[in-house]
Amino acid sequence: MSKTADAFETRFRGHLDELKWLYMELYENETMFAELCSEMRRFYEARNKNLKKLDLEREAQPSWYKKNDMLGMMFYIDNFAGNMKGIRDKLDYLEKCNVNYIHLMPFLDTVDGRSDGGYAVADFRRVKEELGTMEDLEALTAACHEKKMNICMDFVMNHTSEDHEWAKKARKGDEEYQSRYFFFDDFTVPAIYENTVPQVFPTTAPGNFTWLPDTGKYVMTTFYPYQWDLNYRNPRVFNEMMYNFLFLANKGIDIFRIDAVPYIWKELYTSCRNLPQVHTIVRMMRMISEIVCPGILLLGEVVMEPEKVVPYFGTVEKPECHMLYNVTTMATTWHTVATRSTRLLKQQLDIVNRLPKEYVFLNYLRCHDDIGWGLDYASLMQEGLAERSHKQYLNDYFQGFAGMSNSRGELYNADPVTGDARFCGTTASMCGIEKALSEQDSQAVEKAVQLDVMLHAYMFMQSGIPVIYGGDEIGRLNDYTYKNNPNKAADSRYIHRGSMDWKAAAQIDDTSTVAGKIFSRLDRLEKIRRSEKVFMADADTWTLDTWDESTLCIGRYYEGDKLLGLFNFSEYDKMVWINETDGMYVDMISGRPMKASGVPIPAYGFYYLKKENEPGGDKVENL
Ligand code: GLC
Repeated sequence: MSKTADAFETRFRGHLDELKWLYMELYENETMFAELCSEMRRFYEARNKNLKKLDLEREAQPSWYKKNDMLGMMFYIDNFAGNMKGIRDKLDYLEKCNVNYIHLMPFLDTVDGRSDGGYAVADFRRVKEELGTMEDLEALTAACHEKKMNICMDFVMNHTSEDHEWAKKARKGDEEYQSRYFFFDDFTVPAIYENTVPQVFPTTAPGNFTWLPDTGKYVMTTFYPYQWDLNYRNPRVFNEMMYNFLFLANKGIDIFRIDAVPYIWKELYTSCRNLPQVHTIVRMMRMISEIVCPGILLLGEVVMEPEKVVPYFGTVEKPECHMLYNVTTMATTWHTVATRSTRLLKQQLDIVNRLPKEYVFLNYLRCHDDIGWGLDYASLMQEGLAERSHKQYLNDYFQGFAGMSNSRGELYNADPVTGDARFCGTTASMCGIEKALSEQDSQAVEKAVQLDVMLHAYMFMQSGIPVIYGGDEIGRLNDYTYKNNPNKAADSRYIHRGSMDWKAAAQIDDTSTVAGKIFSRLDRLEKIRRSEKVFMADADTWTLDTWDESTLCIGRYYEGDKLLGLFNFSEYDKMVWINETDGMYVDMISGRPMKASGVPIPAYGFYYLKKENEPGGDKVENL
């Protein structure tokens, strides 16, 4: 037996008991379990030697992804570089962005007009023709690995497109394939589901079921009518989806974003969200990856309140996802921008900071989706802010109608029944850059850029790993051209999914341009982050009282280094009333020595104050 075969055996034996237990609990099917095991071995054997080498390295250093140089960026392949080959030509630009983790938005085969931005997958083993081939993907991941960059992709496991081979067969009446989805002869059972299952897209895709006139049946479609929910009660579905997952892992993918994971198990009389079986499936997926391809990471997409998100980390002994989106913090950040009050944000950061350090959050300001206003309304109520009116305020604010707003953007899925609505726009437009440029007000541009950069500086201070929304590094504005495309016009999320502006990107060295101003200042922050160990994902992170509602102070500590991040969320100069009397500090950005007590801070300003170590103290130990 070769050395690498031993590695598989050891991993397999290590997980077998638990894996089998969970599988049997869900499926009671020995034959299908045996098939899963032999397929795992087959995928392991097919995994190329470079990936196996990386697996071993990462296994030996399980914290590899928690380093302070980890910085992500997400973008659409076509918008960014035309196709996969094009990305290879842009790797130098990405390196210049200090990015070592790139999330390629969905690129698998999908049908235009019913693709949900690629989240309706017609074939999990084919790249969408315009974007390239599986060989291109393999070449790209290999090129990235040469540069020590990681690639993330979406694994859309809740549903397939109606154009998937299984769906086509099911539609033709094949019962075995129908059992891979949820088919109903009439609306009796769907009506029972509808009593308890909320709607994801109340305006653009109301209801959770779709009538198929050619088949004479209803099919469950939680998202768009062309996205058919998979039935994970059927072990064939689980096994085949795991094979798809391993197939893609073998193409060199490092990080799998498990799309819409809370939805994958359905049960009558429930909300069909976050059911215990979902956790069983994710845990099995984690073990399967640890057996076949332990170098990969699972990133769960759980866009829900913190108490629903955290269980997806599993426990320290039985972990599920490696990373999860810090979604409530993201939404609360924009609430803070609109209200100039950091009270709720501080409380939210405290919740995250109290969690075990093994839990790694992915921090972001914007992504390809809308911002749903999932805030802690119970706390806001104590300040007299009621959910409905506050959501209305936030939506008005970010459309530029309310308060002292300079934001631009659009509502998303405004539900006339519940009065609920979400919001879309780019970071730069939400910070006021679009308005200031259109009014040719250079002072307002400066102020808006300042807010934009301050928000990034604050995001980098949060506990976890930051991911920049591609285009934000050069201040990309809203793109309204989606309205001219009939396939996109109804979905305002396309407002922030515009093409990369390479003309603007060519000006990043010219700091008189918006692109240059933002890029150069983010570059500075990213380089500080990369060179200071206090930015490790698992550093101690806490908040300090600032005694001023518009300002925020975040502390970080790692192996003797201490850093305080001070942020002003208001357009007025403020004082940060901290009183850290443990020595002198230096502002990492200006290099200026400063005291960390009673700190004056300009409008939308920030500081990274690093405590000066006692001469010799820390250094001697390191010798
Ligand atoms: C996720 C994606 C979103 C998509 C949905 C359905 O939430 O982020 O863009 O519409 O899943 O797959």
